Amino acid sequence: MTKIIVPRSILLIFLILSFTTVFAQKTSVKNIESRVETLLTKMTLDEKIGQLNQVVGDISTGTDLAKDDLIAQIRANKVSSVLSHVNFENKITMQRVAVNETRLGIPLVFGFDVIHGYKTIFPIPLAQAASWDMGLVERIERIAAEEASADGQNWVFAPMVDVGRDPRWGRVMEGAGEDPYLGSRVGEARIRGFQGDDLSANNTVAACTKHFAGYGFIEAGREYNTVDMSDQRLREIVLPPFQAAANAGSATFMNAFTTLNGVPASMNKNLITNILRGEWAWNGMIVSDWNSFGETIIHGAAEDETDASAKCLSAGSDMDMVGGTFQKGLKKALEAGRVTQAQIDEAVRRVLRFKFSLGLFDDPFRYLNQKRHDTTLEKPEYRVVAREAAAKSMVLLKNDGGLLPLTAGSRFKKIAIIGPYADSKGNKDYLSFWTIGLGMREYDSTKVVRPAQALKPALEKLGYEVTVTETCLDSTCTEKDYAAAINAARAADVVIVCVGERGFDCGESRSVSSLELPRKQDQLLNILGRLKKPTVMVLFNSRPLVFEWASQNIPAILVAWQPGFETGNALADVLTGKVNPSGKLPMTFPRSLGQVPIYYNHLNTGRPQTQYGQIFTSGYLDSPTSPAYPFGFGLSYTAYTYSNLKLSKTQYKMGETVEVSVTVTNSGSLPGEETVQCYTRDLAADIARPVKELKGFEKIKLNAGESRGVTFRLSEHDLSYWNNELKWKADPGKFKVFVGGNSVEVMEGEFELAR
Ligand code: GLC
Repeated sequence: MTKIIVPRSILLIFLILSFTTVFAQKTSVKNIESRVETLLTKMTLDEKIGQLNQVVGDISTGTDLAKDDLIAQIRANKVSSVLSHVNFENKITMQRVAVNETRLGIPLVFGFDVIHGYKTIFPIPLAQAASWDMGLVERIERIAAEEASADGQNWVFAPMVDVGRDPRWGRVMEGAGEDPYLGSRVGEARIRGFQGDDLSANNTVAACTKHFAGYGFIEAGREYNTVDMSDQRLREIVLPPFQAAANAGSATFMNAFTTLNGVPASMNKNLITNILRGEWAWNGMIVSDWNSFGETIIHGAAEDETDASAKCLSAGSDMDMVGGTFQKGLKKALEAGRVTQAQIDEAVRRVLRFKFSLGLFDDPFRYLNQKRHDTTLEKPEYRVVAREAAAKSMVLLKNDGGLLPLTAGSRFKKIAIIGPYADSKGNKDYLSFWTIGLGMREYDSTKVVRPAQALKPALEKLGYEVTVTETCLDSTCTEKDYAAAINAARAADVVIVCVGERGFDCGESRSVSSLELPRKQDQLLNILGRLKKPTVMVLFNSRPLVFEWASQNIPAILVAWQPGFETGNALADVLTGKVNPSGKLPMTFPRSLGQVPIYYNHLNTGRPQTQYGQIFTSGYLDSPTSPAYPFGFGLSYTAYTYSNLKLSKTQYKMGETVEVSVTVTNSGSLPGEETVQCYTRDLAADIARPVKELKGFEKIKLNAGESRGVTFRLSEHDLSYWNNELKWKADPGKFKVFVGGNSVEVMEGEFELAR
């Protein structure tokens, strides 16, 4: 072994440097508290209330700063933050005014909706959840943070962690689906990607976990509708991803628009003060959702801006997004004794602490560096991750007869790519409404690699003859409008039909009353079906949809979701087998809207229907109770077999870890990735418990013929539930454990938790 001599002087310098760095960071944290207090004592009441006000930027006001009164409002100490502002130069101008032309020079913080990428667009969040690959989700948000921070954004309004069980709601595309455990892991990964380990670094951004809480349970899936639920459902289904985000260090939270059991979330003391700030001891900054403070008046839960200000501030909410409610009513609320100066100061402290933690007081232009701006946005390597993510999120629902992948040397020669989404260039198709970093409606659609644009050359390279025929997409389309596409299909050996939803129809304010393929696309499928050709249906969707006829009659179905900039390349990679699909559904796909809400972690009822048609059981006369495709489901071009399910013991004492192991074998001929899922069922608790609850998953790579052992370790908390004494507790008794590649096809074991 070689001995290296380090001169004492070098060693000494190294020690001094490392000590000062750590000390500097430490003091900077302690320093923040004393700097906040020092600043607070200098502030007037108007300056304090101004720090609780967020105004909207150019996405809504346009980019001409001279036109709107943003600059005047900033000079008048009325602006703490600006959201949805794309123009980089204008952000520099506004920051200069805030820092140099106001009495205390408190810097602005810029917020933006970065939902699935900022300038490079990735698959929608629901698609990313379908990858079950947390490392990938983190890498995506790391890139989003690099781009957003380089463009002057310090704060992103994400992750959205609302559990959603109703596909009618357009915002299920923003979340991670129906399960709280998966939703928690995805939320944590997003926060890690956004915030990194130093919020003051110029390439990290503050997360904003939203929408606190319960928004995903709006009645009838109708946007902004009423939310009413038991404490059980709130505690076990809705809150876990929020608590995981709080524990992961999310710098901020956002209120939900909706009421929870009658109380608007923005003024919901139980949610904010008792649970978030109390039980979870989270003391970050809370921003309203777009005028949700003012909407408490419309809800009928506040009389006017004064009343609304008093109720929202005293519940523990801090910053007023866009509504101007605090500007209009908070001083009056103080004068009327509805709030105290101490309460206002506490909210202002949280805002100032937030800005200090971003490093904005040390350098207000840290995120407004022209060189970094010019060299960071849309780096080519970002697209590599976007392509990987899009391919990994696609879910193969059917592949009868092994029609896919389409490889060289196939018996097929001619392929027709048809349908309204074969090669669309508009409506933010393959993206979503939540890509406002590209622009609200006008954007450069050439940045999107369209399906046929990549698929045609990729298939031609494999020796196929390929035609592309787009079809019309509105409910007035008739059979003759499809004639060209049907003729192209008639002349082909294989048809790839691309259907689904418009990108612009995905996201907020996009609830639907039907889950059928919109604008009569099933008519196109039915006409195509008459040809009895080998057909692949590619679905571009933002939510679970209903396609019962296709499920019965089309041999191969691939859920592509809205895949983002690299749509075409990812689709080509999957359909040609360059990437073996590994996506698994994060949300149940129903047979019909009539089944909704339908989700895997349901209660058993006292009369479960085990077979369609059984009477006096919990079922329907006209439909089986099973879904079209269950939670956690997704096929591969290879096959996996599960064996050797073992528990470390059959009886455990409270507090002991339950070890569950299984062997997974790639019994097919191609390498692939499998998400191994672990569920439990509490057979005899003090209250009814779900028939399955996801408690762990692991995505593993397996070569053809390879086997791998996977072990899950379940803690007492994993076996606990929110009981009648209003606390998490595990009941002694029998449990089942299930392990498999989806929530239905599982191996089953049993153990007992001893008293
Ligand atoms: C919207 C959304 C919220 C978003 C905010 C800012 O209405 O509900 O998720 O972050 O306003 O755009």
